[in-house]
Amino acid sequence: MSSFTNYEDVSNSYDVYRRAGNMDLLIGMTTQLTGKPLKEMSVLDAGCGTGNYAQSLLDAGLGRITMMDGSDGMLTTARMKTANYKSIAEYRLARLPQLPFPDESFDVVMFNQVLHHLEDTSKFDSRYPIVRETLAEATRVLKKGGVIVIDTSTHNQVKHGFWFYPVLGITEVYKHRFPPVPMLREVLKNNGCSTVQSYVQTERVLMDYSMYSDIEGSLQPTWRRADSGFSQATPEQIQWFCQKIINMKNENTLKAFFDECEQERLTFGQTTTIFALK
Ligand SMILES: C[S@@+](CC[C@H](N)C(=O)[O-])C[C@H]1O[C@@H](n2cnc3c(N)ncnc32)[C@H](O)[C@@H]1O
Repeated sequence: MSSFTNYEDVSNSYDVYRRAGNMDLLIGMTTQLTGKPLKEMSVLDAGCGTGNYAQSLLDAGLGRITMMDGSDGMLTTARMKTANYKSIAEYRLARLPQLPFPDESFDVVMFNQVLHHLEDTSKFDSRYPIVRETLAEATRVLKKGGVIVIDTSTHNQVKHGFWFYPVLGITEVYKHRFPPVPMLREVLKNNGCSTVQSYVQTERVLMDYSMYSDIEGSLQPTWRRADSGFSQATPEQIQWFCQKIINMKNENTLKAFFDECEQERLTFGQTTTIFALK
């Protein structure tokens, strides 16, 4: 269960605007580091959401996948989408940091855009205890020679990679939900992972690009469900956000604003993917 986004609500619209991204990197790095072809690999998708990554891996010939999520709605959608695939080991409704699986069960454990949902900000602790516990669990359920994959955003990516966070005025608060990448690398190394590599694909956008670039679309509540940053904002911040968009529209400056933001996004990117070999 996310500590701030209601995924039972979001599960109905998530697939309208979100797709699996960086599949070439994901498949390339996991096959290279594990030394196994995809068809012999066993993957745990922790925080699988509606199963977009799972489905793409299955389409690419993955051997076996376990899908786990804390939201019944998200997992139900994942189950419906992947019902006809033969390589599903299990769908598991469970809440991180626990991973209710035996030791050394998987070749790959992946967390795609999940870790920033874990800490409870009402009791926010900058040591990120739940994230640390989650990664300890991931290491436990990973086979020797297996790989942990974390797809997340750095604080600079939160600041410069998304046009809407600064307009919403949440950047400085929201960025702290994302465990700092140097900390993640250190925790993975302390857990015994030998190789820890991180990659930024600057061209990758988390949302469907036609939606991301539709600034006026953000006046609609459905559009704003596309990114959990909006569920971090207060009603007043959302109201201010909409007013700023309307003002830019009236001044005919939306395109210039977006073009300027794109320069920054293409410099910093939106996401960082970490691969750690046990
Ligand atoms: C941004 S979505 C990412 C979904 C999927 N990995 C993807 O990239 O399309 C975050 C997912 O993490 C799940 N999640 C958040 N906190 C969780 C927790 N404590 N335990 C299990 N799942 C959690 C949510 O239910 C949601 O499906």
